[in-house]
Amino acid sequence: MASPVAGKKILLGLTGGIACYKAAALTSRLVQAGASVRVIMTEAATQFVAPLTFQSLSGHAVLTGMWQHDDRPDSQHIGLARWADAFVIAPCSADMLAKLAAGLTPDLVSLTACALPATTPLLAAPAMNADMWANPIVQRNLKILRETLPAWHEVGPAEGWQACRTQGAGRMSEAEEIVTAIETLLAK
Ligand SMILES: Cc1cc2nc3c(=O)[nH]c(=O)nc-3n(C[C@H](O)[C@H](O)[C@H](O)COP(=O)(O)O)c2cc1C
Repeated sequence: MASPVAGKKILLGLTGGIACYKAAALTSRLVQAGASVRVIMTEAATQFVAPLTFQSLSGHAVLTGMWQHDDRPDSQHIGLARWADAFVIAPCSADMLAKLAAGLTPDLVSLTACALPATTPLLAAPAMNADMWANPIVQRNLKILRETLPAWHEVGPAEGWQACRTQGAGRMSEAEEIVTAIETLLAK
């Protein structure tokens, strides 16, 4: 049976965290399931993984800044926001949660999220150190997003081994779990 993501347009935003490496598997799984995937990255995300990895896996140029141009006649963040059937931010940093909650748009990922049509699902996969995840400011930002954006959805984070060599909550969900969450959203 075809996946609900087959034929769908998935915009994947990467933000700065160790879990960026897991977004490569996510991109590949979505493409294998028949989705059309476009990837955008914050500058911080490019410190963790190379845009070329995602260009190769998605088959599309990767945009890393709001001043870059692609072949669209309209502003790229508007064009991408309108193009997407779903916008997935994975990994989603604490910093990105703060920007989204405050409506700040200093990078292409937050700018595109702000321009997303109200009915387009926005799925975030938070990923951070357990103490960051437990930080009341981070949780306050999530509460704002849950209460303010009708199309806001979350997957994870999971508990387990973290890159800071501790166990705890804040690990990004695995690619399979994120794909399942996207499928559930798009099957509605
Ligand atoms: C080595 C290293 C690892 C980091 N890992 C994370 C992380 O897993 N989650 C997170 O929220 N921030 C993490 N950060 C901090 C973010 O990269 C930083 O807040 C950055 O400004 C995020 O920018 P962005 O939200 O525009 O991508 C890390 C920073 C460093 C130097």
